[in-house]
Amino acid sequence: MIPATEPLLVRTPLLADDPQDPLRASGNPVRWGVVSTGRIASIVAGDLALLPDAVLQSVSSRSRAGAEEFAARHGFRRAYGDDGSLPGYMRLIQDPDVDIVYVATPHASHFTVAHAALEAGKHVLCEKPMTLNARDTAVLAGLARRNGLFLMEAVWSRFLPSVQRAAEIIASGELGEVRWIQADLGFPAPRHPGARLWQRAAGGGALLDVGVYPLTWALIALGAPQSLTAAAHINGDGVDAETAVTLSYASGARAQFMVSLTTVSTQAATVSGTKGMLRCNAPLFNPTELTLTFGSGETRLETFRPAGRGYTYQLREVLRCLQLGLTESPTMPLADTLLVMTLLDEARRQAGITYPSDPVRGMDRRPAHTGGSQCID
Ligand SMILES: NC(=O)c1ccc[n+]([C@@H]2O[C@H](COP(=O)([O-])OP(=O)(O)OC[C@H]3O[C@@H](n4cnc5c(N)ncnc54)[C@H](OP(=O)(O)O)[C@@H]3O)[C@@H](O)[C@H]2O)c1
Repeated sequence: MIPATEPLLVRTPLLADDPQDPLRASGNPVRWGVVSTGRIASIVAGDLALLPDAVLQSVSSRSRAGAEEFAARHGFRRAYGDDGSLPGYMRLIQDPDVDIVYVATPHASHFTVAHAALEAGKHVLCEKPMTLNARDTAVLAGLARRNGLFLMEAVWSRFLPSVQRAAEIIASGELGEVRWIQADLGFPAPRHPGARLWQRAAGGGALLDVGVYPLTWALIALGAPQSLTAAAHINGDGVDAETAVTLSYASGARAQFMVSLTTVSTQAATVSGTKGMLRCNAPLFNPTELTLTFGSGETRLETFRPAGRGYTYQLREVLRCLQLGLTESPTMPLADTLLVMTLLDEARRQAGITYPSDPVRGMDRRPAHTGGSQCID
């Protein structure tokens, strides 16, 4: 059964009106440790460097040379690599001058790294999806709560002024009653050797990688669904190359989305209501345009220019929470991460998307290559 939740996306005052807000100093410095030197770690480090409250303290990699190169490139003070006795991430976690650990490794290692950081008393910002399943997310949430530490899944889109504005428009009733949401997020993912998206052991596949983005639009507009149906194409690597999900609501409203690692797609989201329609133009994870079309024939375009690469808003929110002593962000609370992971678990169960760690951590193991279209309520 899918748990009911309060409406999502509470606006936070510091994010409300000023698009340059995240670039303004507002309090005590916070010292960051970044685990991994991969693609998103590098992009986020670039945005972190724009925030006056952020100290770029330490970076870790499996390779010491890789960590040192990354540290030099982005201006981190310390670099840790695997040293034969300890992995680089453990050495970073043990650094007494790191306040918060940003976990930017492939999905399958998020749980191990975040768990170790929380056990060592560090706050954690963890890339999406927080873990491979809801059970592991619940373990991390429990550990963070017991230790009084901040924990957040890095769903950066929620903090963008454009997405906050879309949530405001929908909540205002300007679109009437929202009845239908459509979203798609497809891209031909490169197949270079070691590409994590095509590796089952790394948590590859479309649903876990990008499913959270269309789900975010559905949850913004309609909240937690009553039920869902899902079907996937599992490819020869054993990962979902394409997955389709429909969320159904007690009111009869529906949200439908498709995610894909193989196709070029609109990467847009449309929220349709009885009075009007909001289209978030591509890409739906960082829209710079919202187009509104009303039954009256009126249209309106709202445009946005995010600071940095757009991660600044999420990073500023983490700083704000730590400075205020909050252990969760009101805009991305752990209950929402748990809800999303529960929905992803159910979609995986129906669509036959499995990972090697599933039996160990208690997920139902289903044979690969079976699609599903079962209703869960
Ligand atoms: N928020 C966003 O917009 C966004 C965008 C893309 C990805 N992500 C998320 O960020 C995570 C990383 O994605 P990415 O695209 O940056 O991947 P990536 O480019 O493959 O980088 C991942 C890095 O993690 C390290 N690593 C690889 N295997 C590891 C393992 N088994 N244990 C520990 N570390 C390992 C490697 O760094 P070292 O060689 O330095 O160890 C690797 O470069 C994913 O969970 C993804 O969902 C988020």
